[in-house]
Amino acid sequence: MSATNTAPHPTANQPAANQPVGGPAERLARRPLPGDLGTDAQIARIIRVDQAGEYGAARIYAGQLSVLGKSPVGATIRHMEEQERVHLDTFNTMMVERRVRPTALQPLWKLAGYALGAATALMGERAAMACTVAVEEAIDAHYAEQAERLGPGEAELKATIEKFRAEELEHRDIGIAHDAELTTGYPVLYTLIKAGTRAVIWVAERV
Ligand SMILES: [Fe+2]
Ligand SMILES: [Fe+2]
Repeated sequence: MSATNTAPHPTANQPAANQPVGGPAERLARRPLPGDLGTDAQIARIIRVDQAGEYGAARIYAGQLSVLGKSPVGATIRHMEEQERVHLDTFNTMMVERRVRPTALQPLWKLAGYALGAATALMGERAAMACTVAVEEAIDAHYAEQAERLGPGEAELKATIEKFRAEELEHRDIGIAHDAELTTGYPVLYTLIKAGTRAVIWVAERV
């Protein structure tokens, strides 16, 4: 074999010129982020992801109510949905006050949140509650991490996040009290929904 190929071979460090570098998630992660620019941009990022999360949560409970609204757990789900709407209104107001743009993926969360709520509710009350446990635990961890990062200059935002976090944990406890863990296939459902929620939080912080 004497033929030589002088074209450069793509390697891990040197991709072919016409190839995009890395997967979509990797390219997204490398993009300069508003959060890299300073405190104001970091706060904007916090408000953007939290508004998206609360919007998604309100849509999940709305989807659940479309199926279970008249069932014995209807009032309980409605209570959680009402609290989510207060959370959402609060972040909506903050967005206007601080001139923060919403996530570009809002239309997607509108559909996906509602679909997740309705689908789990169609699987039964326990599956709906399993969805609540998984989502609320992911949001609890997210809020805990945010609250820890916020300094004294953002005491009001920190207090709001802590208050909402306590209510998300109340929702989680409601889910467990309604036998979420007895749902058929609970470990799989829980793991998938929690991982999905964490992925959505990751994207909403960036897009
Ligand atoms: Fe909430
Ligand atoms: Fe919640």
